[in-house]
Amino acid sequence: MYHKQLKPFPKDFLWSASTSAYQVEGAWNEDGKGPSTQDVFTPPEGTTDFKVTCDHYHHMEEDVRLFAEMGLKAYRFSIAWSRVIPEGRGKVNEKGIAFYNRLIDELLKYNIEPIVTMFHFDLPLTLAKEGGWSKRSIIEDYKNYARVLFENFGDRVKYWLTINEQNMMILHGGLIGTATATGLKDIYQQNHHMLLAQAEAMILCHEMLPDAKIGPAPNISNVYPASNKAEDCLAAENWTSIRNWLYLDAAVKGIYNPTAWAYLKENNATPDIEPGDMDILKAAKPDFIAFNYYNSTTVAAADPEAELKTDKFDKKKVVSEPGVYQAVENPNFAKTPFGWEIDPVGFRITLRQLYDRYHLPLIVTENGIGLYEELDADGKVHDDLRIQFYEAHIWEMQKAITDGVEVFGYSPWSAIDLVSTHEGFRKRYGFIYVNRDEFDLLDMRRVPKDSFYWYQQLIRGNQIPERTVNR
Ligand code: BG6
Repeated sequence: MYHKQLKPFPKDFLWSASTSAYQVEGAWNEDGKGPSTQDVFTPPEGTTDFKVTCDHYHHMEEDVRLFAEMGLKAYRFSIAWSRVIPEGRGKVNEKGIAFYNRLIDELLKYNIEPIVTMFHFDLPLTLAKEGGWSKRSIIEDYKNYARVLFENFGDRVKYWLTINEQNMMILHGGLIGTATATGLKDIYQQNHHMLLAQAEAMILCHEMLPDAKIGPAPNISNVYPASNKAEDCLAAENWTSIRNWLYLDAAVKGIYNPTAWAYLKENNATPDIEPGDMDILKAAKPDFIAFNYYNSTTVAAADPEAELKTDKFDKKKVVSEPGVYQAVENPNFAKTPFGWEIDPVGFRITLRQLYDRYHLPLIVTENGIGLYEELDADGKVHDDLRIQFYEAHIWEMQKAITDGVEVFGYSPWSAIDLVSTHEGFRKRYGFIYVNRDEFDLLDMRRVPKDSFYWYQQLIRGNQIPERTVNR
């Protein structure tokens, strides 16, 4: 739909930026922090680990000062479960609590709203060794952890995100270092436990913090059929249900999506559901949906007799399931230097699909572009590609708002350069450059990129700054 004039962004729109604990903090074994699964994850050869990253733990005040200078209205970060409760359950680490207290206070000093992800890919290692999300007792562990967070930070944190990208952990856990499953049945049992843990946390949050808001944070992307053939359209429907709605139907409506359930049955992978489980899912009501969007997906029908296919670079990533769907490239899109398709219009479509389906306010908790970058001769970073990427996506978000979608915040990835899930420090996402290489830590100097000043201008004006770029 073409609009002659776009609605302005709401006055109190949360212009934000995102990070996650294990990707920025470093200090992986300091001040009583227990190890997490990410601390023992072996990254691909030639790629750095998460032990230091951009050392935010030791640069926190400086980083927050820069976030304030950029004009952020909000900052989305995650709390490392094993920094707060080193073994995942039991003893609380006061120094961990103190760090997040300082971070939250520092943000509030500059009127930056803290948005907290309670769990972002870094399960305490002790719990993982016991079976992690496969064990039903982890629901109680997560609930107790949630209670510790609400007790300690609930007086100042109003926005809570339960679990980051649960769907990516289930679908691509090998790639992002979270997989512990022994097969499809086990992974969907883990999924069921995560859904229950999330539901318990939402219920508890509403009991303990009546003024706070809480919601899930999956990765959602719209799925195109490769052609207008009915079979391709059906494959797109299949994948949409398995990739997107399985997670959100459970989180919002407290039900298992029927198509996804049929897929699980077909694969003997339905989770064991105990009496009362579905009541818990139904009782939990999110206040909003947070979602991460990087790109769309395109699929074709997949012959039931064909073989299951994995990604040519990453054998752990399934890209085709016989009889269900087959991922294909979409020739209509340009790609990032890391091969991710760029689809801003798909972002608008995704926003509309989510709002149409669930009628809940939306916040975008990740969106961004990974680039190879270095300091230029003038000591700066001219990341025009990033500005173009954001401009195009924010423009489409404004169109979605004009379409009638209720969006209350945008939190791109990432506030500052950090270690990518599996492609190291060389894949930079930040508004702020950090002067280190893949393995050489150099001086860790912070340098605002051109996009930093562009975003600053956008936030100040509450609108996309005028540029010569062709829209
Ligand atoms: C999301 C994650 O999947 O995408 C982030 O929530 C991640 O943790 C981001 O960093 C970008 O992906 P990648 O693989 O390029 O780091």
